[in-house]
Amino acid sequence: MTLMKEIEERRAYRALSPDPLPEDQVERLLTAAHHAPSCFNKQSWRFVAVSGDALAGLRETLSEGNKWATRAPLIVAAAQKPSLDCRLDEGRDYAPFDLGLAVMSLVLQATHEGLVAHPIAGYSPGKVRKALGIPEDYVVHTLVIVGGKGSDELLSDWQKERETGPRLREPLEKVAFRNRWPDPVSG
Ligand SMILES: Cc1cc2nc3c(=O)[nH]c(=O)nc-3n(C[C@H](O)[C@H](O)[C@H](O)COP(=O)(O)O)c2cc1C
Repeated sequence: MTLMKEIEERRAYRALSPDPLPEDQVERLLTAAHHAPSCFNKQSWRFVAVSGDALAGLRETLSEGNKWATRAPLIVAAAQKPSLDCRLDEGRDYAPFDLGLAVMSLVLQATHEGLVAHPIAGYSPGKVRKALGIPEDYVVHTLVIVGGKGSDELLSDWQKERETGPRLREPLEKVAFRNRWPDPVSG
């Protein structure tokens, strides 16, 4: 058995094509997100899918290192408000957790359809809220940069290297244990 194709193929690619995405594809990506599980089925996630002329304001919110994202034909702003979701003891605020599950569903659906979907944190959340009319009490947790694969002309040297470099991960034994922390997964 190998890992699911989409999990293997997904990478945080940055070389994008500006070609617009069909409307039904955008809707499918949002539906994939919305099919995610959530605590008590709260569905506290909120998404704003931005394309065409509406992208101009959003591009200005990106950090210098995320210039590559200005080529994307679609950016999905993903927001959450903790009070809309389960808030349990020991700091278990489930709104960001549920939003993460939903974003991963969107990312895997996009990968399945041959697209790049790359969540980022490098932007000004206040400016994004203003540009998109997102209410003050929502946290804009990520922008998902979406598009077909394309040119690497806006990438820095290290970003170009990462396009073809190996997936970098800690050893599995550092992050996952078997039966009891910190017993090893294998061996
Ligand atoms: C929450 C989050 C924030 C990220 N922010 C950025 C970002 O601002 N700019 C960027 O180029 N990549 C960003 N990334 C991509 C990560 O750097 C990338 O996923 C990581 O290096 C692992 O590489 P891989 O996804 O190709 O396996 C972000 C990823 C996540 C999940």
